[in-house]
Formats: sequence, structure tokens, C-alpha cells
Amino acid sequence: MIEFKNVFFSYNNVEALQNINLTITSGESVAIIGPNGSGKSTFLKIVNGILLPTSGSYCLKGEEITKDKLDKPKYSKAFHKNIGFLFQNVEHQLFCPNVYEEVAFAPKQMGLREEDIHKRVQDCLELLSITDIKHRSPLNLSGGEKKKVALASILSMNPDILVLDEPMNQIDPKGKRFLKELILNLNKAGKTIICSTHDFEYVEGIFERCIVFSENHTIIRDDKYDDVISDNEFLIKNNIK
Ligand SMILES: Nc1ncnc2c1ncn2[C@@H]1O[C@H](COP(=O)(O)OP(=O)(O)OP(=O)(O)O)[C@@H](O)[C@H]1O
Ligand SMILES: [Mg+2]
Repeated sequence: MIEFKNVFFSYNNVEALQNINLTITSGESVAIIGPNGSGKSTFLKIVNGILLPTSGSYCLKGEEITKDKLDKPKYSKAFHKNIGFLFQNVEHQLFCPNVYEEVAFAPKQMGLREEDIHKRVQDCLELLSITDIKHRSPLNLSGGEKKKVALASILSMNPDILVLDEPMNQIDPKGKRFLKELILNLNKAGKTIICSTHDFEYVEGIFERCIVFSENHTIIRDDKYDDVISDNEFLIKNNIK
């Protein structure tokens, strides 16, 4: 479903991805790990169409994702409905005057009926235990609260693919345990999960597969999650643990 062929990416002259080749199929649950600066967020942004490869190709469901296509509002809307992206720095994705509006934004864009929007927003607020802050401004919330609001605003779109860039970051231990169950259940319900993390303790049991990025921005291992995480020598050698 997701296919990268010989993908390179650089920010002006800064290398971020080098010759990435991979396929992720529908329903998979994939962890993206690697040291700081290895290219995880860049990779996830390409999956989500925020960045385009400098060279090489990215195909979703057999179709190459290009600037020309994403510039077309109808195409872009359909593309983004498929993929929900939780930014590493969620401040970049919160822009509505209050939490309710933030979570209602995507369903409104999708043109749902007023009562369906309301129901979906209520469900997502409840799911993430943020109903009591629905009138607050997202920008004045704590880091963990912001993350929950951003996640609710993605879930309200009901995308097939969830791209999560360090979702556990800034969440308290109870929230992390909850988030783990949530991600597991979303995967069980058929959602494809692609998630970067440094937080190995709390994500145990979520992922089947693990893709490892190295300091020189290539994929150095693509393997069963449990095998990678139990390979201490490999993790230490590559500055992951
Ligand atoms: N906007 C940008 N402009 C220039 N260089 C950037 C930009 N964003 C990232 N980089 C560089 O690209 C490389 C990959 O960064 P990226 O954010 O993808 O890494 P990461 O694996 O997500 O790291 P982290 O674990 O710290 O989140 C790094 O060398 C980084 O300095
Ligand atoms: Mg990152």
C-alpha cells in the first residue's frame, strides 16, 4: 500500500534520508526507530505528503504522490482523509480557537451532517478524556493535553492510516498505558499504524515490525519488532539504547 523506491531527501544541503526502499501493507503495525536526526520525522512527513522526495518515488495504493496531485484541492483532501498525522511537535497542528472546534475541524471539512459531527466530536473527546477542556484554547494547554487534542482531531477524521511521530512524548505514565491500548485497538480494528518512538518501555506489544534508521539516514534493519528490541548489542552499537 505504501511504497518507497530509492527515496532521498535533503533540506537544502542537509541530508535527511538516503536511498529508502520499503513497502508497508494495509493493517501493519510498524515502529520507526533510530537516533536523533536519523530521519524518522522526515520519513513520516513524506508518508503524509508534507514533504516530497528530493529524488525517488513514494506511491500510495499504487499511485505516485506528486506535487501536481497534492496541489489539487480535491485530490489533497481525499489523500489527507486517508492518513492521519500526529506531529512530533503538535503545536504545529493546533490552530482552532477551542478544543471542540479543533476536533470538529476535519469532520466539518468532510461535509458531515451537523449532528454526525457533534456525535463524532463527543466520542473522540470522551475517548481521550478531554471533554472537560473542550472550551479551552488548545494553545494554552499543557504538552500532554495538547497531544491528546491533536490525537482526537486526527481520530475524528477516521483515517485508514495513522502516522504517529513520538506519540508518547510528554504523556504521563497513565496516559502512556492508555495510549498503548488505544493504538493496539486501532490496529485490531484494521488501521495501519506507523509510529516513531524512543519510548520502548511503554510500547511493548504494539508493533509487529520495526524499521531502524541509522545516523547516516539509511535503513539498517527491517525486522520483527521483538527481535530488534531484544538485540541489545545491535541497539547499543547503533546509539539507539
Ligand atoms: N526543517 C529542517 N531544515 C533543515 N534540516 C532539517 C530540518 N528538519 C530536520 N532537519 C535535519 O534532517 C535530519 C533528519 O531530521 P529528522 O527530524 O527527520 O530526524 P528524527 O530521526 O526525527 O530525529 P528525532 O529523534 O530528534 O526526532 C537531521 O540532520 C536534521 O537536523
Ligand atoms: Mg523526529
